[in-house]
Amino acid sequence: MSLERKDEHDHKGWMETRDLSKVESVYLMTLMYLDKRLRIVDYLELLEDLYYKVNMQMPKSHTEQYGLDNKFWYWYPLYALGSFSTLAYVVAAVSGALLGFYYAPAATSTNGQATIAYNSITFIMTDLNFGFMLRSLHRWSAQVMVAAVFLHMLRVYFTGAYKEPRELNWLLGIVLISLTMVFGYTGYLLPWDQLAFWAGQIGVEMSLSIPLVGEWVAQLIFGGFTPNPATLQRMYILHVFFLPFIVTALIAIHIGIVWMQGIAEPH
Ligand code: HEM
Repeated sequence: MSLERKDEHDHKGWMETRDLSKVESVYLMTLMYLDKRLRIVDYLELLEDLYYKVNMQMPKSHTEQYGLDNKFWYWYPLYALGSFSTLAYVVAAVSGALLGFYYAPAATSTNGQATIAYNSITFIMTDLNFGFMLRSLHRWSAQVMVAAVFLHMLRVYFTGAYKEPRELNWLLGIVLISLTMVFGYTGYLLPWDQLAFWAGQIGVEMSLSIPLVGEWVAQLIFGGFTPNPATLQRMYILHVFFLPFIVTALIAIHIGIVWMQGIAEPH
């Protein structure tokens, strides 16, 4: 019997001698099928190895070292705020992707009145089945995310978790809270209603107030000195293309660092 055939024979023999549930045998058959073709067991072992190598925890935390656990338990619910921010982000991302099937970013008008962007929002709110719910879910999750991220930052500050060796994650957090707000701002402009238009005007004027490079910044970000179709196009592509990739990657790195360093106990 060739080696491969013998291997297969052994697998089958082993499966027959055990009383496997249907789920177990489907799982094992799938694993064997994939392993034969893609060597996935080898790759899973590599991942497992990596996990143990990378997951080296920091030296004993303050509370462990001094046995202070019982004094600090009341902080722990607040440690959920980072995950809550992530959850809000995921809900916003999924509802946003669905809204993308119906929203059109054009700030031009076909009938000399409402713009295409505004009309698409009206369509979502009035005609689309559960459209109002989808849009509300997106707006609420976005606002909940801003609040959660801010409260998470307060938790990190008041428990002293920003201190060495976690300064880099604090700085990454500053970038994340800033990008969360840019997410909010670019999204706020998308309906291209009065609120959006004048928020755009405020953005233009804030850019123009920057010394020396103000005009250049306004041109770059808003495509002019007053909100115009190019402004909406830019906000749209930032909101649905650049920011999702950048923020998702940064959140993954942020949480990866927490995983590598271990969570900080209150100082
Ligand atoms: C999109 C925004 C953010 C997400 C999704 C996020 C997510 C998380 C998660 C899941 C944790 C694990 C511990 C916990 O949940 O409390 C964490 C820890 C941490 N975060 Fe954030 N975070 C965000 C923004 C920020 C901001 C704005 C700061 C501060 C400026 C920050 C600084 C930190 C630090 C220093 C830790 C380590 C804390 C420890 O070890 O106890 N994060 N983050």
